[in-house]
Amino acid sequence: MNKLDIRLFDGSDADYEILSQLRNKINPDNQATPEEIKDWDSRIDAKIKKCKWIGIADGETIGSASYSQMMWAYHPQKFHIHVGVLPERQGEGFGKVLYDHLLEAMTPLDPISVRTEIREDWTRSARFVQDRGFIEDFRTWESRLDVNAFDPAPFTELRDKPLTHGIVIKTYRQLKAEDPGFARKLWEMDNTASLDVPTPEPMTPFSFENYHRMVMENPSLLEDAFLIAVNEADGEYAGLSALWKRESDDHLDTGFTGVHPKYRRMGIAMALKLRVIAYAKSVGSPVIRTDNATTNRPMLSINEALGYQKQPVWISLRKTIKEDPTGEAKK
Ligand SMILES: CC(C)(COP(=O)(O)OP(=O)(O)OC[C@H]1O[C@@H](n2cnc3c(N)ncnc32)[C@H](O)[C@@H]1OP(=O)(O)O)[C@@H](O)C(=O)NCCC(=O)NCCS
Repeated sequence: MNKLDIRLFDGSDADYEILSQLRNKINPDNQATPEEIKDWDSRIDAKIKKCKWIGIADGETIGSASYSQMMWAYHPQKFHIHVGVLPERQGEGFGKVLYDHLLEAMTPLDPISVRTEIREDWTRSARFVQDRGFIEDFRTWESRLDVNAFDPAPFTELRDKPLTHGIVIKTYRQLKAEDPGFARKLWEMDNTASLDVPTPEPMTPFSFENYHRMVMENPSLLEDAFLIAVNEADGEYAGLSALWKRESDDHLDTGFTGVHPKYRRMGIAMALKLRVIAYAKSVGSPVIRTDNATTNRPMLSINEALGYQKQPVWISLRKTIKEDPTGEAKK
Protein backbone atom coordinates (compact mmCIF):
# COMPACT_ATOMS: atom_id res chain seq x y z
CA MET A 1 0.00 0.00 0.00
CA ASN A 2 1.23 3.50 -0.81
CA LYS A 3 1.83 5.78 2.14
CA LEU A 4 -1.18 7.78 3.32
CA ASP A 5 -0.65 11.14 4.99
CA ILE A 6 -3.54 12.28 7.15
CA ARG A 7 -3.86 15.92 8.10
CA LEU A 8 -6.49 17.94 9.95
CA PHE A 9 -9.06 19.77 7.84
CA ASP A 10 -8.19 23.45 8.38
CA GLY A 11 -11.57 25.12 7.70
CA SER A 12 -10.16 27.23 4.84
CA ASP A 13 -12.05 27.80 1.60
CA ALA A 14 -9.41 25.67 -0.14
CA ASP A 15 -10.19 22.75 2.19
CA TYR A 16 -13.95 23.14 1.66
CA GLU A 17 -13.22 22.96 -2.08
CA ILE A 18 -11.31 19.70 -1.48
CA LEU A 19 -14.15 18.28 0.65
CA SER A 20 -16.73 19.19 -1.98
CA GLN A 21 -14.72 17.55 -4.77
CA LEU A 22 -14.31 14.37 -2.72
CA ARG A 23 -17.97 14.23 -1.79
CA ASN A 24 -19.14 14.83 -5.35
CA LYS A 25 -16.94 12.09 -6.77
CA ILE A 26 -17.81 9.60 -4.04
CA ASN A 27 -21.56 10.31 -4.14
CA PRO A 28 -22.28 11.97 -7.51
CA ASP A 29 -26.04 11.59 -7.03
CA ASN A 30 -26.06 14.11 -4.21
CA GLN A 31 -23.62 16.88 -4.94
CA ALA A 32 -22.87 19.87 -2.74
CA THR A 33 -20.85 23.03 -3.40
CA PRO A 34 -18.01 24.10 -1.08
CA GLU A 35 -20.12 27.09 -0.03
CA GLU A 36 -23.06 24.85 0.96
CA ILE A 37 -20.85 22.55 3.04
CA LYS A 38 -19.21 25.52 4.74
CA ASP A 39 -22.61 27.05 5.45
CA TRP A 40 -23.99 23.79 6.94
CA ASP A 41 -20.96 23.55 9.20
CA SER A 42 -21.35 27.16 10.31
CA ARG A 43 -24.93 26.50 11.51
CA ILE A 44 -24.09 23.59 13.78
CA ASP A 45 -24.51 24.34 17.48
CA ALA A 46 -21.14 25.34 19.00
CA LYS A 47 -21.53 22.68 21.70
CA ILE A 48 -21.34 19.87 19.08
CA LYS A 49 -17.93 18.18 19.07
CA LYS A 50 -16.73 17.48 15.55
CA CYS A 51 -13.52 17.09 13.55
CA LYS A 52 -12.45 16.26 9.99
CA TRP A 53 -9.29 14.95 8.35
CA ILE A 54 -8.03 14.78 4.80
CA GLY A 55 -6.03 11.84 3.39
CA ILE A 56 -3.24 12.39 0.85
CA ALA A 57 -1.43 9.69 -1.14
CA ASP A 58 1.12 10.25 -3.94
CA GLY A 59 0.57 14.00 -3.52
CA GLU A 60 -3.14 13.61 -4.33
CA THR A 61 -6.14 14.08 -2.01
CA ILE A 62 -7.78 10.66 -1.98
CA GLY A 63 -10.26 10.72 0.91
CA SER A 64 -11.52 12.15 4.16
CA ALA A 65 -12.74 11.10 7.58
CA SER A 66 -14.90 12.91 10.11
CA TYR A 67 -16.83 12.54 13.32
CA SER A 68 -19.55 14.68 14.86
CA GLN A 69 -21.96 14.44 17.74
CA MET A 70 -25.50 14.40 16.38
CA MET A 71 -27.40 17.65 16.80
CA TRP A 72 -30.75 15.98 16.02
CA ALA A 73 -30.07 13.16 18.51
CA TYR A 74 -27.66 14.70 20.97
CA HIS A 75 -25.77 12.44 23.32
CA PRO A 76 -22.26 13.44 24.41
CA GLN A 77 -20.88 9.94 23.72
CA LYS A 78 -22.71 9.11 20.48
CA PHE A 79 -21.21 10.15 17.17
CA HIS A 80 -21.89 10.13 13.48
CA ILE A 81 -18.85 9.25 11.41
CA HIS A 82 -17.92 9.34 7.76
CA VAL A 83 -15.01 7.80 5.89
CA GLY A 84 -14.81 8.33 2.14
CA VAL A 85 -12.22 7.32 -0.47
CA LEU A 86 -12.28 8.32 -4.15
CA PRO A 87 -13.76 5.50 -6.25
CA GLU A 88 -10.56 5.16 -8.31
CA ARG A 89 -8.45 4.81 -5.13
CA GLN A 90 -10.71 2.31 -3.35
CA GLY A 91 -9.30 -1.14 -2.62
CA GLU A 92 -5.82 0.15 -1.71
CA GLY A 93 -6.28 0.06 2.07
CA PHE A 94 -6.76 3.82 2.53
CA GLY A 95 -10.26 3.57 4.01
CA LYS A 96 -8.98 1.24 6.71
CA VAL A 97 -6.17 3.63 7.67
CA LEU A 98 -8.54 6.63 7.74
CA TYR A 99 -11.04 4.69 9.85
CA ASP A 100 -8.40 3.54 12.36
CA HIS A 101 -7.08 7.10 12.61
CA LEU A 102 -10.59 8.40 13.22
CA LEU A 103 -11.46 5.94 15.97
CA GLU A 104 -8.09 6.45 17.64
CA ALA A 105 -8.62 10.24 17.61
CA MET A 106 -12.05 9.77 19.20
CA THR A 107 -10.79 7.74 22.15
CA PRO A 108 -10.49 10.74 24.52
CA LEU A 109 -14.21 11.48 23.86
CA ASP A 110 -15.10 8.05 25.32
CA PRO A 111 -17.66 7.14 22.61
CA ILE A 112 -20.30 4.53 23.38
CA SER A 113 -21.41 4.21 19.76
CA VAL A 114 -20.71 5.45 16.25
CA ARG A 115 -23.21 5.60 13.40
CA THR A 116 -22.78 5.81 9.65
CA GLU A 117 -24.78 5.35 6.43
CA ILE A 118 -24.12 3.44 3.24
CA ARG A 119 -26.22 2.99 0.11
CA GLU A 120 -27.53 -0.54 -0.45
CA ASP A 121 -25.80 -0.85 -3.82
CA TRP A 122 -22.38 0.13 -2.47
CA THR A 123 -21.09 -3.44 -1.97
CA ARG A 124 -17.55 -2.46 -0.99
CA SER A 125 -18.90 -0.12 1.73
CA ALA A 126 -21.19 -2.89 2.98
CA ARG A 127 -18.21 -5.20 3.50
CA PHE A 128 -16.21 -2.41 5.12
CA VAL A 129 -18.80 -1.65 7.81
CA GLN A 130 -19.70 -5.29 8.35
CA ASP A 131 -16.04 -6.19 8.96
CA ARG A 132 -15.85 -3.42 11.56
CA GLY A 133 -18.80 -4.55 13.63
CA PHE A 134 -21.48 -2.16 12.43
CA ILE A 135 -25.03 -3.47 12.68
CA GLU A 136 -27.85 -2.22 10.47
CA ASP A 137 -30.76 -0.76 12.43
CA PHE A 138 -32.55 1.70 10.13
CA ARG A 139 -33.37 2.25 6.44
CA THR A 140 -34.29 5.37 4.48
CA TRP A 141 -35.58 5.72 0.94
CA GLU A 142 -34.77 8.65 -1.19
CA SER A 143 -37.72 9.19 -3.55
CA ARG A 144 -37.92 11.53 -6.50
CA LEU A 145 -40.82 13.13 -8.30
CA ASP A 146 -40.58 13.88 -12.01
CA VAL A 147 -42.20 17.32 -11.80
CA ASN A 148 -42.79 17.74 -15.54
CA ALA A 149 -44.59 14.38 -15.77
CA PHE A 150 -46.77 15.12 -12.74
CA ASP A 151 -50.42 15.71 -13.70
CA PRO A 152 -52.29 17.67 -11.01
CA ALA A 153 -55.73 17.07 -12.60
CA PRO A 154 -56.70 13.94 -10.60
CA PHE A 155 -55.83 15.75 -7.36
CA THR A 156 -57.90 18.93 -7.79
CA GLU A 157 -60.32 18.14 -4.95
CA LEU A 158 -57.54 17.09 -2.54
CA ARG A 159 -55.75 20.40 -3.06
CA ASP A 160 -58.54 22.24 -1.23
CA LYS A 161 -59.75 19.50 1.13
CA PRO A 162 -58.31 21.17 4.31
CA LEU A 163 -60.56 24.19 3.64
CA THR A 164 -63.53 22.08 4.69
CA HIS A 165 -61.88 21.85 8.13
CA GLY A 166 -61.24 25.62 8.28
CA ILE A 167 -57.54 25.22 7.38
CA VAL A 168 -55.88 27.62 4.96
CA ILE A 169 -52.40 27.31 3.47
CA LYS A 170 -50.02 30.25 3.47
CA THR A 171 -46.39 30.82 2.58
CA TYR A 172 -43.56 31.48 4.99
CA ARG A 173 -43.20 34.89 3.34
CA GLN A 174 -46.86 35.80 4.02
CA LEU A 175 -46.94 34.61 7.63
CA LYS A 176 -43.60 36.18 8.49
CA ALA A 177 -45.09 39.53 7.42
CA GLU A 178 -48.54 39.20 8.98
CA ASP A 179 -48.20 37.13 12.17
CA PRO A 180 -46.20 38.66 15.05
CA GLY A 181 -45.96 35.23 16.73
CA PHE A 182 -44.68 33.59 13.53
CA ALA A 183 -41.20 32.35 14.48
CA ARG A 184 -42.07 30.72 17.80
CA LYS A 185 -45.35 29.25 16.52
CA LEU A 186 -43.54 27.66 13.59
CA TRP A 187 -40.79 26.25 15.81
CA GLU A 188 -43.32 24.80 18.28
CA MET A 189 -45.46 23.19 15.60
CA ASP A 190 -42.42 21.80 13.75
CA ASN A 191 -41.05 20.31 16.98
CA THR A 192 -44.40 18.72 17.87
CA ALA A 193 -44.97 17.22 14.40
CA SER A 194 -41.34 15.98 14.34
CA LEU A 195 -41.85 13.80 17.41
CA ASP A 196 -43.49 11.14 15.22
CA VAL A 197 -40.74 11.00 12.59
CA PRO A 198 -39.10 7.56 12.84
CA THR A 199 -35.39 8.02 13.62
CA PRO A 200 -32.52 5.62 14.34
CA GLU A 201 -31.62 7.42 17.60
CA PRO A 202 -33.92 9.13 20.11
CA MET A 203 -34.53 12.60 18.71
CA THR A 204 -33.57 15.70 20.71
CA PRO A 205 -35.76 18.68 19.69
CA PHE A 206 -34.00 21.86 18.56
CA SER A 207 -33.99 24.84 20.92
CA PHE A 208 -35.61 27.95 19.44
CA GLU A 209 -32.14 29.46 18.87
CA ASN A 210 -30.93 26.37 17.00
CA TYR A 211 -34.12 26.19 14.92
CA HIS A 212 -33.80 29.86 14.04
CA ARG A 213 -30.18 29.46 12.92
CA MET A 214 -30.61 26.10 11.16
CA VAL A 215 -33.93 26.82 9.44
CA MET A 216 -35.02 30.45 9.46
CA GLU A 217 -31.62 32.03 8.76
CA ASN A 218 -30.65 29.35 6.26
CA PRO A 219 -29.84 30.76 2.78
CA SER A 220 -31.32 27.66 1.13
CA LEU A 221 -34.80 28.35 2.57
CA LEU A 222 -37.28 29.39 -0.11
CA GLU A 223 -39.92 31.64 1.43
CA ASP A 224 -42.49 30.89 -1.29
CA ALA A 225 -41.89 27.12 -1.23
CA PHE A 226 -42.15 26.81 2.57
CA LEU A 227 -45.86 26.30 3.14
CA ILE A 228 -47.70 26.40 6.44
CA ALA A 229 -51.26 25.23 7.17
CA VAL A 230 -53.12 27.57 9.51
CA ASN A 231 -56.36 27.11 11.45
CA GLU A 232 -58.37 30.14 10.33
CA ALA A 233 -60.45 30.21 13.52
CA ASP A 234 -57.60 30.83 15.97
CA GLY A 235 -54.43 31.24 13.87
CA GLU A 236 -52.92 28.00 15.21
CA TYR A 237 -50.31 26.40 12.92
CA ALA A 238 -51.39 22.91 11.86
CA GLY A 239 -48.68 21.66 9.50
CA LEU A 240 -45.89 22.47 7.09
CA SER A 241 -44.14 21.26 3.98
CA ALA A 242 -41.08 22.98 2.58
CA LEU A 243 -38.84 22.75 -0.46
CA TRP A 244 -35.22 23.84 -0.24
CA LYS A 245 -32.84 25.14 -2.85
CA ARG A 246 -29.81 23.11 -3.99
CA GLU A 247 -26.80 24.92 -5.41
CA SER A 248 -25.38 22.01 -7.43
CA ASP A 249 -28.42 21.39 -9.63
CA ASP A 250 -31.94 22.62 -10.30
CA HIS A 251 -33.63 19.94 -8.20
CA LEU A 252 -35.46 20.88 -5.00
CA ASP A 253 -35.07 19.09 -1.66
CA THR A 254 -38.00 18.41 0.64
CA GLY A 255 -37.06 19.73 4.05
CA PHE A 256 -39.79 18.54 6.36
CA THR A 257 -43.45 17.69 5.92
CA GLY A 258 -45.28 17.38 9.20
CA VAL A 259 -48.74 17.85 10.63
CA HIS A 260 -49.54 18.53 14.29
CA PRO A 261 -51.11 15.33 15.71
CA LYS A 262 -54.41 17.06 16.41
CA TYR A 263 -54.85 17.97 12.72
CA ARG A 264 -53.94 14.62 11.12
CA ARG A 265 -56.08 12.78 8.54
CA MET A 266 -57.73 16.00 7.38
CA GLY A 267 -55.85 15.97 4.07
CA ILE A 268 -53.44 18.71 5.19
CA ALA A 269 -50.18 16.97 4.26
CA MET A 270 -51.55 15.96 0.87
CA ALA A 271 -52.73 19.52 0.13
CA LEU A 272 -49.37 20.97 1.23
CA LYS A 273 -47.47 18.55 -0.99
CA LEU A 274 -49.71 19.28 -3.98
CA ARG A 275 -48.95 22.96 -3.54
CA VAL A 276 -45.19 22.55 -3.21
CA ILE A 277 -45.28 20.51 -6.42
CA ALA A 278 -47.13 23.41 -8.07
CA TYR A 279 -44.34 25.70 -6.84
CA ALA A 280 -41.67 23.42 -8.37
CA LYS A 281 -43.56 23.45 -11.69
CA SER A 282 -43.88 27.24 -11.59
CA VAL A 283 -40.10 27.70 -11.26
CA GLY A 284 -39.26 24.97 -13.79
CA SER A 285 -37.53 22.62 -11.34
CA PRO A 286 -37.54 19.14 -12.91
CA VAL A 287 -37.18 16.98 -9.78
CA ILE A 288 -38.29 17.07 -6.13
CA ARG A 289 -36.26 14.86 -3.82
CA THR A 290 -37.37 13.54 -0.45
CA ASP A 291 -36.04 11.10 2.16
CA ASN A 292 -38.33 8.89 4.21
CA ALA A 293 -37.79 6.14 6.73
CA THR A 294 -38.89 2.85 5.16
CA THR A 295 -41.17 2.46 8.22
CA ASN A 296 -42.90 5.84 7.78
CA ARG A 297 -46.12 4.44 6.29
CA PRO A 298 -48.15 7.69 6.56
CA MET A 299 -45.58 9.75 4.60
CA LEU A 300 -44.77 6.97 2.14
CA SER A 301 -48.49 6.53 1.36
CA ILE A 302 -48.76 10.17 0.35
CA ASN A 303 -45.57 10.17 -1.73
CA GLU A 304 -46.54 6.92 -3.44
CA ALA A 305 -49.98 8.33 -4.32
CA LEU A 306 -48.31 11.39 -5.84
CA GLY A 307 -45.99 9.28 -7.99
CA TYR A 308 -42.64 9.70 -6.19
CA GLN A 309 -40.24 6.97 -7.40
CA LYS A 310 -38.08 5.16 -4.86
CA GLN A 311 -34.29 5.26 -5.27
CA PRO A 312 -31.79 2.83 -3.71
CA VAL A 313 -32.15 2.50 0.06
CA TRP A 314 -29.74 4.19 2.49
CA ILE A 315 -28.80 1.86 5.33
CA SER A 316 -27.93 3.33 8.72
CA LEU A 317 -25.69 1.21 10.92
CA ARG A 318 -24.42 1.47 14.46
CA LYS A 319 -21.30 0.12 16.05
CA THR A 320 -21.64 -0.24 19.79
CA ILE A 321 -18.34 0.49 21.46
CA LYS A 322 -19.49 0.04 25.03
CA GLU A 323 -22.79 -0.32 26.82
CA ASP A 324 -24.52 2.95 27.62
CA PRO A 325 -24.92 3.28 31.40
CA THR A 326 -28.31 4.98 30.72
CA GLY A 327 -29.46 2.00 28.61
CA GLU A 328 -29.95 4.13 25.48
CA ALA A 329 -27.39 2.20 23.38
CA LYS A 330 -29.48 -0.96 23.60
CA LYS A 331 -32.50 0.68 21.94
C1 LIG B 1 -47.03 12.02 7.49
C2 LIG B 1 -47.98 13.13 7.95
C3 LIG B 1 -47.34 14.48 7.56
C4 LIG B 1 -49.35 12.97 7.24
O1 LIG B 1 -50.14 14.11 7.56
P1 LIG B 1 -51.74 14.15 7.41
O2 LIG B 1 -52.13 15.57 7.20
O3 LIG B 1 -52.35 13.41 8.53
O4 LIG B 1 -51.98 13.32 6.06
P2 LIG B 1 -53.26 13.49 5.09
O5 LIG B 1 -54.47 13.70 5.92
O6 LIG B 1 -52.97 14.52 4.05
O7 LIG B 1 -53.30 12.05 4.42
C5 LIG B 1 -53.52 11.87 3.05
C6 LIG B 1 -53.52 10.39 2.75
O8 LIG B 1 -52.25 9.81 3.14
C7 LIG B 1 -52.46 8.49 3.66
N1 LIG B 1 -52.16 8.48 5.11
C8 LIG B 1 -52.04 9.53 5.95
N2 LIG B 1 -51.79 9.09 7.20
C9 LIG B 1 -51.75 7.75 7.16
C10 LIG B 1 -51.53 6.74 8.10
N3 LIG B 1 -51.33 7.04 9.41
N4 LIG B 1 -51.52 5.45 7.70
C11 LIG B 1 -51.73 5.14 6.41
N5 LIG B 1 -51.96 6.08 5.44
C12 LIG B 1 -51.97 7.35 5.82
C13 LIG B 1 -53.93 8.19 3.44
O9 LIG B 1 -54.07 7.69 2.14
C14 LIG B 1 -54.54 9.59 3.54
O10 LIG B 1 -55.79 9.69 2.94
P3 LIG B 1 -57.12 9.29 3.81
O11 LIG B 1 -57.03 10.01 5.14
O12 LIG B 1 -58.24 9.79 2.96
O13 LIG B 1 -57.08 7.81 3.99
C15 LIG B 1 -48.21 13.06 9.48
O14 LIG B 1 -48.56 11.72 9.83
C16 LIG B 1 -47.03 13.50 10.31
O15 LIG B 1 -46.88 14.68 10.62
N6 LIG B 1 -46.17 12.53 10.69
C17 LIG B 1 -44.95 12.90 11.47
C18 LIG B 1 -43.96 13.69 10.64
C19 LIG B 1 -43.33 12.84 9.54
O16 LIG B 1 -43.05 11.66 9.71
N7 LIG B 1 -43.03 13.49 8.42
C20 LIG B 1 -42.32 12.89 7.35
C21 LIG B 1 -40.88 12.93 7.62
S1 LIG B 1 -39.95 12.17 6.40
